[in-house]
Amino acid sequence: MISRRTSRVAASLLGLAVLAGIGYALWWRSHPSPCPYSQRRWIDLPRPVITRSRLRDLLDPRPGERILELGPGTGYYTGTIAQAIEPNGTVHAADVQQAMAEHLRARTRRHGHRNVEPIRGDGRQLPYPDDRFDAAYLVLVLGEIPEQERALAELERVLKPGGRLVVGESLPDPHFVTLETLRRRAERQGFQFEDHVSTRVGYFARFTVPSSVERAE
Ligand SMILES: C[S@@+](CC[C@H](N)C(=O)[O-])C[C@H]1O[C@@H](n2cnc3c(N)ncnc32)[C@H](O)[C@@H]1O
Repeated sequence: MISRRTSRVAASLLGLAVLAGIGYALWWRSHPSPCPYSQRRWIDLPRPVITRSRLRDLLDPRPGERILELGPGTGYYTGTIAQAIEPNGTVHAADVQQAMAEHLRARTRRHGHRNVEPIRGDGRQLPYPDDRFDAAYLVLVLGEIPEQERALAELERVLKPGGRLVVGESLPDPHFVTLETLRRRAERQGFQFEDHVSTRVGYFARFTVPSSVERAE
């Protein structure tokens, strides 16, 4: 039989473990940082809410387009988008971690997607010229970037007028960005909110860069 003292000690230890877990999650939330390559198994798990088909439907990739993926990680979504823009379109994928970019290169080659160009690049200073892309997307990335508005400003810069941006977020990511916060930050950088698909635990939101005519109105 378990003594009362043993169960009290076990309950205290459990309480401490829960508190430590909450403390760690709070610390992580207030210290944005890239998901380490060693944790990549988590990002390869199936996603019932922020699915590949929902992303494709909202982003609406078209054959021949040049699309930017920011923070592709191991490439959960990359193949789906690359396939949708074949034969002449290209996905340029910029991840701040070299190991992620290399992993993505190997994965897309293995799956026969020759139209993906992974590089190491920081969303806060994108290595692309102005007005370069028809569309851009990032999923579970924004909350990991210490200066989110700077990254949004960079996305606005590299998108063509009329270009589309889709942002995906989902719980239990400790860096989850709410739709309200995203809207406020994106609109401050000149994006126009267009549409979203969401559930209680996750969403995809679409924005556009207004054309110069729309800006003048
Ligand atoms: C949680 S993972 C998500 C990966 C992928 N988007 C997915 O949904 O599976 C976040 C990714 O964003 C990348 N990342 C974080 N901060 C970044 C930054 N400042 N610029 C570019 N990539 C960044 C990380 O290296 C990591 O690969």
